[in-house]
Amino acid sequence: MNIRSLLSSDIDFALDLTMAEGWTSTRSDFEELLLFNPNGCFIAEIGSEPMGMVCSISYGPFGFVGNLIVRPEYRGEGRGFGLMESAMHYLQSRGTSVVMLDAVSKAVSLYERLGFEIVCRSLRLAGTVKPKSSPRMHQMDEKFLKQVLSLDQKLFGGDRSLFLKKSLEKHPDLSLVCEGDNELVGFMMGSRRHGHVRLAPWAVSESPGFAQEMLPAFAEKAGSTTIRLGVLENNENAVRLLEDHGFHEQSHSWRMVKGVSPDAVHLSDGIYAIGSPMRG
Ligand SMILES: CC(C)(COP(=O)(O)OP(=O)(O)OC[C@H]1O[C@@H](n2cnc3c(N)ncnc32)[C@H](O)[C@@H]1OP(=O)(O)O)[C@@H](O)C(=O)NCCC(=O)NCCS
Repeated sequence: MNIRSLLSSDIDFALDLTMAEGWTSTRSDFEELLLFNPNGCFIAEIGSEPMGMVCSISYGPFGFVGNLIVRPEYRGEGRGFGLMESAMHYLQSRGTSVVMLDAVSKAVSLYERLGFEIVCRSLRLAGTVKPKSSPRMHQMDEKFLKQVLSLDQKLFGGDRSLFLKKSLEKHPDLSLVCEGDNELVGFMMGSRRHGHVRLAPWAVSESPGFAQEMLPAFAEKAGSTTIRLGVLENNENAVRLLEDHGFHEQSHSWRMVKGVSPDAVHLSDGIYAIGSPMRG
């Protein structure tokens, strides 16, 4: 088995793999991953036939791995492990010592063999929220962008401005900010999918009161449709607020970490919706 960098010419293959798993990755997800970290994704091939992939992202001191897939007929012979090793070497070469991922239950033992430990459940929730506008909520535009990026850096802990800018370009109507008395206190970014709106990410800096106000205002922009998001179970305020709004669990995976004790992993309480399992 040969492992090489994933190129833009491999994106069709990558999409075939994700589609076969029922995952909803898009072409632009892969294009943006390659823009962000051109050498962070890998293809496994036998001869010239591609049969697996993995992607990784370095945000500097911490990073994420995702999109690990081996074609069914090639599974169970160490290829997934080999792909993971390539991603981990890449992250190490970038000085990224803390690596996180969201694992399906069946893959937990594979990641444990690589030294990952479980932090908590990573929940996928869905709900339909009663819309209500708020005078604090505004459409995100260029004039808010600098504040959004600096708030995100503070709460998320890494620079994911490329992804946020791309999301704003593609879905300006579902990109919203919340202003407190003197400054920007939160933002939400959504995208329309088949039959639902995906909210990702959602970040709030101040008291949960602002988050309470933001969700119905987002629902107003989304229209009366289901909102789906991912949130870490250890963000108790976020989970409580979402449950109060009638959100229910659709599925969950396991947030795992390597490089730091699981107890030390607590995304900021201000992250009410993750960007994606792959991007964190
Ligand atoms: C996960 C996956 C890439 C592993 O590939 P592989 O080449 O079989 O991996 P390895 O031979 O190195 O390791 C086998 C391990 O894969 C895991 N695994 C087995 N079946 C799996 C499945 N259907 N889905 C996810 N993981 C699985 C198990 O941990 C297994 O180890 P075990 O036999 O000790 O329990 C492959 O099963 C796959 O593509 N699954 C579907 C996509 C997926 O679930 N990806 C992981 C998302 S977190």
